[in-house]
Parts: sequence; C-alpha cells; structure tokens
Amino acid sequence: MDHQAPPPSHVLIFPLPFQGPVNCMLKLAELLSAAGLHVTFLVTHHIRHRLLRHSPIQTHFSRYPHFQLVSISDGLPEDHPRLGDQVMEIFDALESVTKPLYRQMLTSGGTQKPVNCIIADGILGFAIDVAKEIGMPIISFRTISPCFIWVVFCLPKLIESGEIPFRDNDLDSLITSVPGMENFLRKRDLPSFCRSGNVTDPFIRLFSTESQLSPRTDGLILNTFEDLEGPLLSHIRTLCPNLYAIGPLHGHLKSRLAVASPPSSGSFRQEDRTCLAWLDQQPPKSVLYVSFGSLATITKDQLMEFWSGLVNSGKRFLWVIRSDYLGSGGDSERQIPAELQEGTKERGYIVDWAPQVEVLAHSSVGGFLTHSGWNSTLESVFEGVPMICWPCFVDQQVNSRFVGEVWGLGLDMKDTCDRVIVEKMVRDLMEERRDEFEQSANRMADLARRSVTEGGSSFQDLDRLIQDIRSMSL
Ligand code: UDX
Repeated sequence: MDHQAPPPSHVLIFPLPFQGPVNCMLKLAELLSAAGLHVTFLVTHHIRHRLLRHSPIQTHFSRYPHFQLVSISDGLPEDHPRLGDQVMEIFDALESVTKPLYRQMLTSGGTQKPVNCIIADGILGFAIDVAKEIGMPIISFRTISPCFIWVVFCLPKLIESGEIPFRDNDLDSLITSVPGMENFLRKRDLPSFCRSGNVTDPFIRLFSTESQLSPRTDGLILNTFEDLEGPLLSHIRTLCPNLYAIGPLHGHLKSRLAVASPPSSGSFRQEDRTCLAWLDQQPPKSVLYVSFGSLATITKDQLMEFWSGLVNSGKRFLWVIRSDYLGSGGDSERQIPAELQEGTKERGYIVDWAPQVEVLAHSSVGGFLTHSGWNSTLESVFEGVPMICWPCFVDQQVNSRFVGEVWGLGLDMKDTCDRVIVEKMVRDLMEERRDEFEQSANRMADLARRSVTEGGSSFQDLDRLIQDIRSMSL
C-alpha cells in the first residue's frame, strides 16, 4: 500500500488590481506559502510589471518553492493611468477582457498544477461566477473595511427606505437602515457614491451586488479582528456564516514569521527609504506622517491648504506626495508648487513613496494624517498611532467615522479642507489631546497584537482557514 502524503493543496489568489488589495492579499499568500500550501498569485500584467520593477517580490518569495506569480491582461492600454477616478473603466475592462482569459486559465490547465481552491476579491463578481460555473471551491476576500461591507450589505435596505441616494444636503442626519450603526452613522459617513442623488449611479449598482455575491461563496475572509469589529462581524455572519476574521494580516507576518518589513514585498512604487534616516533625527513622537494612499488624487488648492495648515501648526511632518497626486493631467497641472518644496525644509520631509509600515512603527512618529484606506487604518491601529482622517472615497468615509466616533483613535476631518482646520487638528492630535488619543491607540494596538499571537482570535481563524483549504485537496 502507498502511504505517501497527499500533495499540498493548490490555492489561486486573485486580488483586485490596486495597491491596497494586492498588498493585503500578498501577505495572505505569504502566510499560506509558509504553511506549505502551493500558491499561485494571479495579477494583471500591469501590476506584475510594477511589482517586479519596484518591490523585492522575487527575492522575498524565493524562500517559498511552491509560490508562483502569474499574470493576465486587464484589458486596458499600457499607458492608462489606472487612478481612483477611473475605477469603473477598470471594472468594465476586467469584466469584458479578463473574465474569459481567467476562465480559460482555470479550465485548460493554464496553471502548472490543478487548482483546488480560489481566493478572489469578493468584488470581482466574475471570479466567483466562473468558479461556480466550473464547480471550484471559492472563498471571497474583502480587503476593504468590514464596517463598509456591512453598510453595502444594507444598500438594498437603504434604497428601499429612501435613505439613499441623496444630494449634499442634511448631511448630519442619522441613518436608520444599517443595524448596529443607528446611533452614530450620518449621511455624511456613507460612501461618497451615495451622494450622487441617483439610484442608478454605477457605484451604487456595483456595490449593491455585494449582498448577493459573498454569501454565494464557501467562505468570507476579512482583514480585521474581533476586538475591533466584533458586533459588526456578528451582523455579517447572519449572511456569511463561514467568516474568517484574520487581521491585521501584516501583524501575523511580524508575529508568526518574524518578517521585519512585510509590506515592501508588494510595493508598486520605489520606496524612498531616506525618510527613515530623517526620522531617526527627530524627537520621539514629534512627527506627523501624512499620506493619502495609492489612488486618491487632490487638487492644487487642497494641496496648498494642507501644506499651509501643516506649516502653521509648527509640527514636524513627513509627507508622501506621489508623482500622480495631482491627477493625470498635463505636466504643469501635475507640478508640485516650488514654494511648497522649498518652504517644507525647516520641519518637513517629502517623499514620493514611503516604507509605510516601517514609518508608522518608527518611534519619532506620533500621528498619521490619512485618507482612511483600510490598510493604512489597520497599519496605524497595529502600531498605536492616532489618526486625523481625511477620507476621499469608497470605504473611507465610514472608516473615518469609526476612527473618530466609535474607536476614539483620532479626529475625523471629512468634508473640510481648510488650512485653519488642518492646523487646529494637527495641534489637537499632537499636543492638546495627545494623551487621550495615545491611551486609546495603545489599548487598541495591544488588542491587535494579541489577536495575531497564539490563542488570539485572528490567529485561530487563520489556522482554521489553512485547515479548510488543506481539506479541499483530499
Ligand atoms: C484602496 C482604497 O483607496 C481604500 O479605501 C480601500 O480601503 C483599499 O483600496 P489605497 O488608496 O491603496 O486603498 O489605501 P490603503 O488601503 O490604505 O493601502 C495603501 C497601502 O500602500 C498600504 O498598505 C500602505 O502601507 C502602502 N503605502 C502607502 C506605502 O507602502 N507607502 C506609501 O507611501 C503609501
């Protein structure tokens, strides 16, 4: 009789082609690889190119012999900017061009070894449809915030009750159709696409399908932990009972695998590490780190309001100003004003892209002015850094409400962009109310760390996920 161990399961991971989701799923890919599973990480050609160019993905993952990076077309021309204001175009191209290629890859042996299970971003409805069509187990992973997921699960109810859509009026009235959030969720905190005044808004249509998509899968992975969002997770479980709450994902890499700087393996841009040396020279907790993530664009006026507020606050700051920060217009529109570069030198430092997780973990950093993207939020929570939130789109409006009102981890500046307010909030966070925010941030950071250490809720859920995937090859 042959007693050979069965071959390890082969899982195909398919992230949404944006920095945040790729970063997040790459961490899961590493954790599954370290557990001995075969992992195929499927990205678009565009993203593969950027990863190979700017991140040490190849050297980092060479320690996992069963990991492979595979790519597929996203259907867009190479010079397409792929920024936040073009998201619908990206979704349309994925649906029309990528879907058939993905089906073909799965059905005609396009991967080196047959796939036992797919983990796809839950908003990629076609990835779920194809898996169902060919009878392949599929687990959806929503890398976006669970508080947003619960709001979009409630979109049909919000529409039925007439609470959305609305225009920019009466923004402070409370929303009643999202169970668990009746006491604090205002119109202003709903995703910005709810403000369009139009129920056929493409984003409302896209996200309305959420409440049907994820429950069709074999499980739902969320990047969060019980102590942060337990009550909400109970609501989500009413629709998706097989829930794996395994966040903060980068925390597992630190605690399980002792990976020192996990995010660098997934960067789409060249990290400017000189900022770490600059931080080394600043007093403890004296620097405000400023970054609005990978997709958001801002206007020149907004840029100048932030800059004036930062300079007038008298605090030190490290600011990520991406080269495409001012959008994809002509060169003169995109140029960062010279006075800003010049006037920053005294107390500030500007980079195009930072090693964010290392920056947030640095002892000189005492606050984070953020767009409230979910990865940035969790990274800040894990390091115990209080936040000022300036949300731009999608989940960020809800996230910033939770940071300010529910978790008490900082200040929510949404819907304003004024130098006087920026200055005041920076002073409040870094000086006036510093002790209060530091205390709650430290408390939450402690809970986050416990969740990813042995016996913690996320640690256990990750183990359960690995076991469940293993059982799919039997
Ligand atoms: C997008 C959406 O904007 C966000 O709302 C959603 O939650 C996820 O998808 P993005 O703008 O990329 O996210 O923000 P975020 O989720 O915060 O992810 C950004 C990632 O880039 C983080 O992991 C962060 O560590 C990294 N980063 C950012 C860097 O490594 N360096 C930087 O200079 C800035």
